[in-house]
Amino acid sequence: MNADIEILAALRAAGVGGVSGAELAQRLHVTRAAIWARIHDLRQLGYDIAATPYAGYHFISAPDLLHADDLAARLGPVRVIGRDLRVFRETASTSDIAEHLARDGVAEGAVVFAEAQARGRGRLGRPWHSPAGKGLWFSVLLRPDWHPTEATRITIAAATALARAIQLRTGLAAAIKWPNDLLFRGRKAAGILTELSAELDRVKYVIVGVGVDVNVTAAEFPPEFRRQATSLSIETVQRLDRSDLAIAILRALDHDYERVTGGRFDEVADEWAAQCTTLGQPVAISVGKRHIRGRAEALDADGALLVRTEHGLLERVTGGDVRLEK
Ligand code: BTN
Repeated sequence: MNADIEILAALRAAGVGGVSGAELAQRLHVTRAAIWARIHDLRQLGYDIAATPYAGYHFISAPDLLHADDLAARLGPVRVIGRDLRVFRETASTSDIAEHLARDGVAEGAVVFAEAQARGRGRLGRPWHSPAGKGLWFSVLLRPDWHPTEATRITIAAATALARAIQLRTGLAAAIKWPNDLLFRGRKAAGILTELSAELDRVKYVIVGVGVDVNVTAAEFPPEFRRQATSLSIETVQRLDRSDLAIAILRALDHDYERVTGGRFDEVADEWAAQCTTLGQPVAISVGKRHIRGRAEALDADGALLVRTEHGLLERVTGGDVRLEK
């Protein structure tokens, strides 16, 4: 653990009682001056930390920014997802960075956040608008020991985890549109882009890119998205704490990744199906140049959508654009 993680964890744990510089120095095996210097740097970032001569340091508030050490301090121990956290002020796409980490051999579970993305990407080559400080734009590096056909499970697990964490932190119940859109009152506030690197019979790594419109205002959406998009703050009519939500999402992702890698995908799929608005509905799906029309019947054991076509055939769909037919 680095010094900032320990200091922030100790300050938060001490609450109103505060913690003295001497105690922090002793715990971290550094001088009180070194502690003061770290506190000074945290204040420069916008942390409000009070200091009183007798009681020591008190945590008052955190700024609205994602800080890797603070996230780690608040997240606590995780099994896989979030054991390595990195935050960038701005990047082209967090999924590009996660991909570089994957190629460099970084262990699974690393998570890359950015306050802003200049070239955030969505599914099917669409752009993903990622304004600074308004959302959660992050990518998770995973290395499941799977056949490539099983990778859709990760998207299903990620959508389930995301919906649960959002409900926990905001009270909002999402409708999931297969495979990865989270809708509120019919408008999208979050999406997942799963990218895979695989050999014929084995996944090398998976990058799960998650975008959540947290505090984006209606006027901040590009005009072409305004009618279909919403944000969690528009839905709750309040500004939300992004770090708090990020922590809830990471814990939920870690939990559901454990469930799917531990042979409990059916449990996750049941939870997903309970929130999915696609199942049971007539759908039109475009997969490249192919168009499939039919009724979305179920998920299969790998997370693919099973669609009963107009001709009575059962089609297995793993990608594409789904439209609900009236
Ligand atoms: C979609 O619904 O089309 C998926 C959107 C995924 C956006 C996220 S934001 C973080 C990560 N980096 C990207 O460039 N895309 C994903």
